[in-house]
Order: sequence, then structure tokens, then C-alpha cells
Amino acid sequence: MSNPSLLILPGDGIGPEVMAEVRRIIDWFGTRRGIVFDVSEDLVGGAAYDVHGTPLHDDTMTKAQEVDAVLLGAVGGPKYDVLDFSVKPERGLLRLRKEMDLYANLRPAQCFDALADFSSLKKDVVAGLDIMIVRELTSGVYFGEPRGIFTEGNERVGINTQRYTESEIARVARSAFELARRRGNKVCSMEKANVMESGILWREVVQKVRDEEYPDVDLSHMYADAGAMQLTRWPKQFDVIVTDNLFGDLLSDLAAMLTGSLGMLPSASLGAPMANGRPKALYEPVHGSAPDIAGQGKANPIACILSFAMALRYSFDLGAEADRLEAAVQKVLAEGVRTADLMQAEGGSPVSTTEMGDAILGALEASL
Ligand code: NAI
Ligand code: MG
Repeated sequence: MSNPSLLILPGDGIGPEVMAEVRRIIDWFGTRRGIVFDVSEDLVGGAAYDVHGTPLHDDTMTKAQEVDAVLLGAVGGPKYDVLDFSVKPERGLLRLRKEMDLYANLRPAQCFDALADFSSLKKDVVAGLDIMIVRELTSGVYFGEPRGIFTEGNERVGINTQRYTESEIARVARSAFELARRRGNKVCSMEKANVMESGILWREVVQKVRDEEYPDVDLSHMYADAGAMQLTRWPKQFDVIVTDNLFGDLLSDLAAMLTGSLGMLPSASLGAPMANGRPKALYEPVHGSAPDIAGQGKANPIACILSFAMALRYSFDLGAEADRLEAAVQKVLAEGVRTADLMQAEGGSPVSTTEMGDAILGALEASL
């Protein structure tokens, strides 16, 4: 059997800086755990534009379709603000998401105990928190027709349409149930079936997929507004939450901020299963290219490192190794190792991007 394959797209700004630390971690898994990836690296965003005149070369797109998983840093920067919309760095990322048809966006909210003080919620509400929001990403009200601003009589009307087909609901539900089986085996589906027909269909289809294909997974339903309340009141009641594009946009941002800083947040976008049974997958930190700190060695590499941990768990079935990597991050944070973005008023001196990488590698080594 060939090695699992990874395409690495560092991108712009702090993208290459944080990705350099991930590369060291990938190498560590190869030499110390015998888990060897076929890694290829290519350009995306402004870095690709500088060389090819396009933010994503066709060859790179083809490669992305062929590998087991894509790991991306970040794209964009002030240098590219003047470019035409069609070749802006973000277009490279959007093309990847669209052509790979990545319909399930995964955003974890995980509390690293040493950072529990960062939360706006009480410590015991967030300590140990580990939930996953699955947001439908390619349909719903952001895409439905009709849409536009029209004139009706003597005033204008703005229209967007919430539209979901049964198959669109079923496939994102399957993503959520598959994830739940690798986690706490519990899914809560959120919609507004009380006031929206699309919500009635959503609830019905999710229940049917559960009953026919995932009878072992625990499923509950909640109205999305009640879900927002429950997320802030007692988030630990949830394991996996599955919801539509609009509610997911709001709920995933809300859930992410329960635990903390942009420099800590990973994400994944998954599509249909490939011939080998693995879903098409793109892993990336939630943050952007951070031009204000780029080139200064200040960036926190943890969001990108945790994105790789998600790849281990969800693309490569290496949950125990993902646990090992997450535990290493927990350990260095508990020891007080902090990049500048994780410093609070009490002071102390921050470590650099590379020093954070060193500390995590040290913790991995200590885990053997
Ligand atoms: P940003 O996420 O790049 O930065 C926001 C703030 O958070 C900045 O102060 C930055 O220094 C800080 N920050 C972000 N990541 C950090 C990390 N790992 N360690 C320490 N501090 C970190 O968002 P912003 O400033 O709105 O956008 C900057 C550029 O990035 C723009 O060109 C934007 O279009 C692009 N962008 C790209 C994204 C992507 O590639 N997925 C997502 C968001 C923005
Ligand atoms: Mg949002």
C-alpha cells in the first residue's frame, strides 16, 4: 500500500511561517512513529499569483483532487489588494473549495485548560469542552434562487432564498454521523422547523439518515435559537452539532469564541468520500495571513498544527496520534509556553513561532 498523501499549500504572510512548524511535526511522525506521508508542496494565493499570474494554477488544482488531504496556511495581504477581483488571492481558496465540492465545514470548539481564563464564560463552563460544529457550506440561503434586489411597485425589495434538497441535507448529515462515530457518538441537529419549511425537511431527512444508516449514533434536534442559548449556557452537553449554512456561520463563530484566540482555531472542509473511502478534505487554520505580524516570527503555529491533528483523525483514521498531538499542545500550554497572542496582562515573555514548534516537538518526544 502506498503512503497517505498530503498536499501542502503554505500561501502568504504568516502561512509559510506556521506551516514550517507543521512540516517539522509531520517529519517527527515519520521518523518517530513510522507514519510516513508523501508530502508535496505548492503555491496558492498571492504566492501563486506572483509566479503564475493566477492564485491557483490548474496543475495545483489537479494535484489537490488527487491527494488524500490538502493542508493550507493562509492567503492574502495588502500587496494584493490592488489586483482585479478575478485573480485576488482569496479566489484560489474559493476555487479549491468549490471544485473539490467541500460541503461540510468542521469547526471545533475545544478548551485548552491552561487558556480557560481567556474565555468570557466561567471556567467550569468551558474547562474540558470539546465540541464540533458541522456547517453545510455549499447551499442554503447564500446560494438559493431567486436572489437579488428588485423593484416592486414604488419600492425595492431584497430577496434571498433558503433552499435545500434532500440529497444536500443527507450528505452533510452523513458527514456529521461519521464524525460522531470517531468522537462521542452524539449528534444534535439544529434548524427552525417551527417556522421554516426547509427546516421541516432538514429535520425529517437527518432523522431518516440516522434511522437507516447510523442507528448506533444518538441524535437529538433543537431549534437553532435555543441552540445558541444552550451553547452559551452549558456547551458541554453537545458533541457534534450539524446545521445549515446560515445558522452554522453564526453558531460556529459563537462556539469558537467560547474558548479563545484566533491563533488556536483549526478547521476542516470535507466533501464526498473518494474511491479509498476517505472524504475529500481541506484543512486550514481559521485565521488569515496576519500581515501585521508577518515576517517577525511572532505567529502562533498552533491553529495550523491542530488543523494537521484534524487531518490525522478525520482523513487518516489516526485518532490516537491526533490525541497525542493535541495532548502535546495541552502540555506546552500548561507549562506556560505562550506566543504573543496568548499573553495576558500579567506579563512574562512570549516565545517565537519556532520556539513554540520546538516546545511541541519536545512534548511529542516526551509522550513516547
Ligand atoms: P487575520 O486572521 O489575518 O488577522 C487578524 C488578527 O489576528 C491580526 O491582528 C493578526 O495578527 C492576528 N492573528 C491571526 N492569526 C494569528 C496567529 N496565528 N498568531 C498570532 N496572531 C494571529 O485577519 P485579517 O487581518 O482580517 O486579514 C489579513 C489578510 O488575511 C487579508 O488579506 C484577508 O483577506 C486574509 N484572510 C485570509 C483567510 C484565509 O486564508 N483563510 C481568512 C481570513 C483573512
Ligand atoms: Mg462567519
